[in-house]
Amino acid sequence: MKEKFMVTPELLKENFIEVYGEGAEIRMFASPARINIIGEHIDYNGGKVFPAAIDRYLYCAVRKRSDSKIIYNDLFFSGTFTFDINDSFKFDEKNDYANFLNGILSCMKKQGYSFDTGFEVLIASNVPSAGGISSSSALECGFAWAISETFGFNISRKDIALMGQQSEHEFMNVNCGIMDQYIIATGKKDTAEVLDCAKVEHEYVPLNLGDYRFIVMNTKKKRRLADSKYNERRSQCEEGLAILKKAAIPLSNTGVCSNTKDLPDLCSLTPAQFEECGNAIKDEIIYKRVRHCVTEMDRVLQAVDALKANDLVKLGSLLYGSHDSLKNDYEVTGIELDTLVEVASKQTGCIGARMTGAGFGGCAIALVHKDYAEALIENVQKEYTKIIGYEGGFFACSSGDGVKEIFA
Ligand code: GLA
Repeated sequence: MKEKFMVTPELLKENFIEVYGEGAEIRMFASPARINIIGEHIDYNGGKVFPAAIDRYLYCAVRKRSDSKIIYNDLFFSGTFTFDINDSFKFDEKNDYANFLNGILSCMKKQGYSFDTGFEVLIASNVPSAGGISSSSALECGFAWAISETFGFNISRKDIALMGQQSEHEFMNVNCGIMDQYIIATGKKDTAEVLDCAKVEHEYVPLNLGDYRFIVMNTKKKRRLADSKYNERRSQCEEGLAILKKAAIPLSNTGVCSNTKDLPDLCSLTPAQFEECGNAIKDEIIYKRVRHCVTEMDRVLQAVDALKANDLVKLGSLLYGSHDSLKNDYEVTGIELDTLVEVASKQTGCIGARMTGAGFGGCAIALVHKDYAEALIENVQKEYTKIIGYEGGFFACSSGDGVKEIFA
């Protein structure tokens, strides 16, 4: 295991040879982290979300072997994991990060892809792990792309995303939506992506931030998606939808449906329609969860328009609105994320901030004028450390590309 440093393709190659020795062709791939600009916890409610891939990459180097062995090493995590391509892969706590890779292999095998040899892999990531900017999806999708390309499977980007999600559901036992895997597989530099999660289709929107930058602010709070209340939130939404469908309330306002019994998902309800039917939900918690989904979907549509119209101030105010809703209605923020957002919002040049990703820790983002970015980082760090008792992590990000092959 090495001390943490910023990995480059050259260093990845050097280290691969150090670990496995010289030999046949080494192929190398980069897989980005992501921020979600807005549209939180609605990907699994048929909503539209607005993420962007960022210029922080996880790297995966692969070389085919002449036997059927599989060997995984990670530059920054200790332990070598060895399997055989003919194994039937099962989740096992002691396999640590190798579970993400085995999960993908298990999906590939289920889908009928067959391997003529084993392979060796070196992972090296510049993405903070379990930090809420999708380090695990970067690993899953980066590895899936690397294997697909190396073995000539030619799996499409969309199918790579779906495979990453399938592996989370079936292997890792996390009932996640499609947002993270999709943006990581399909992202494009200088754009954000409006992803319609009901149709599983996307539209690229130029990410013109002018003099503004997104700063990623990491709570550094320890958490794992599976330990969190993620799956619970998902079932509360399902309950909300079931109540509305059962109540069969006619809707006079225009939307996807004219009666709640026909609602395909919560995000098909407009805010005006929610006014008409929301009272059918008597449980206050379920009511708040549903209200978050409906209002968040509306904020996404407004945010996309604001970005297209270069109205960054409007975009920023929608970010604050999203955070409030995630704090009060969806209840997935917590003191660490709230502190980051609140302190950032008071800094000169900051026009918006919100938690990003699943919440319960992880990261927030702030939209700030570039001339004030450094001061924001310094001041928020100081205040955060004072209030929370340990330091957060901060960096300015730009947009990045989805999974791709790299060369050194
Ligand atoms: C995690 C999940 C995504 C999405 C977000 C919340 O990142 O992997 O599918 O649900 O949380 O928006």
